[in-house]
Formats: sequence, C-alpha cells, structure tokens
Amino acid sequence: MERKHLIAPSLLAADFANLQKECEMLNASEADWFHLDVMDGMFVPNISFGIPVIDFINRHATKTLDVHLMIEQPDRYIKQFKSVGADVLTVHYEACKHLHRTLQTIKAEDMQRGVALNPHTPVSLLEPVLHDIDLVCLMSVNPGFGGQSFIEHTYDKVSELRQMIDAKGLSTKIEIDGGVTMSNARKLIDAGADVLVAGSFVFKSADPMATIKELKNA
Ligand code: DX5
Ligand code: ZN
Repeated sequence: MERKHLIAPSLLAADFANLQKECEMLNASEADWFHLDVMDGMFVPNISFGIPVIDFINRHATKTLDVHLMIEQPDRYIKQFKSVGADVLTVHYEACKHLHRTLQTIKAEDMQRGVALNPHTPVSLLEPVLHDIDLVCLMSVNPGFGGQSFIEHTYDKVSELRQMIDAKGLSTKIEIDGGVTMSNARKLIDAGADVLVAGSFVFKSADPMATIKELKNA
C-alpha cells in the first residue's frame, strides 16, 4: 500500500515583508505543514528568524507548524517554541549532548519529536533512540541556507533509515530537507520518504500553489 507523502514548504524562501499573504497562500494550497527554519549563527553560519516571528505565523497558519531548530543547546527554548504553536519540534543530533533527555522534554511539552541529521551523520547513530523519535529529518544539503543543490547520497540514507524503521515496526516519519524539486521528489518517495520540505522550489516558482500541487502529486 502506498504511503501518501506530505509537503512542507519552507518559509525561509518566502517574502518576509508579506508573511501574512504567504501564510494564507499555504493555507489555501495542498501543503500539509509549514516548515520553519530557525538559525542561530552558531550551529549554522546564518541567522534566520526566531520565536516572535513564529508567534505571528502561528496567528495566520491553519496547518501543522514544523519547526526545524538549527541552534546550539536547543533545550533552552523548548517551552518557548511550544508556547508559539510548534507542533513538531526538530533538534539537530549534532547540537544535543543529551539527546535522550531533550526528546523527553519535547514529549513532555506535548510536541512531536524530530531529530535532524547533517549530511555527514550516519543514520545508524539513531538506532538506540529511534523508538523515541516521531520524525527524522535527513538534511540533503548542509544546513544554513536555502537554494543549495541536493546531495545525491541522501537516497542511500533514506533507504537505510526506511529499513531500520520498518524492521522495528515503528511509524517514525522520514523528512527530506534541502534541494527538493520535481527532479528528485518521486525518487525520494520511492526510497521511503514521508515528508518533503521545499523552499526555493516553491516560493521562487511563478505559481507557488501550482508547484505545491505538483509536489503533492509527484
Ligand atoms: C536549510 C533549511 C531548509 C531550507 C530548504 O538549512 O533547513 O529547510 O529552507 O530550502 P531549499 O528547498 O531552497 O533547499
Ligand atoms: Zn529546514
């Protein structure tokens, strides 16, 4: 039976001067989630937006808020992201000394637990905690910037992770983040991806709603 994949447009590529309009476009589109990229200039070499901006997005968004924290020591802000409406809270494996504790805190705040892996981080490292994770975000570019090109090795990581999840009988979702376009969407889904994040491909296209529909029907 085919799993229907979800589309999570990344607002990093949206028009920040017209965020309400962009939120309304996503509400009306076939997008499933809003993907929100938080960068601290430490974990990644870029700064994006933070808690107050997500608070405003939350007032307009009618869909799941998928918050991707590219920040050091994310434990410091878990409660605050909950308070501005985060539904899925994803931390980076590489940014958490005590990942298990971080995942417990996210669950205690009643959010879905996400863990993101940089392109160089093997999926096998998640084996001991996989049953405590609702979503694994496989970075298919080096985190920090939108508009980069897709790293081909990602397909192997998706297949390996799909096997690990299925072998354990878990329902952990696999999300792909970075360089997603119509030229890799179908192949990623076939390899076992559940959620496709797309920033530039959606927001820089002539008709973002039509592009979301295309990805949804990939
Ligand atoms: C990269 C971010 C991505 C980014 C994807 O660090 O985590 O979510 O917005 O953008 P595109 O789809 O343009 O690669
Ligand atoms: Zn992201």
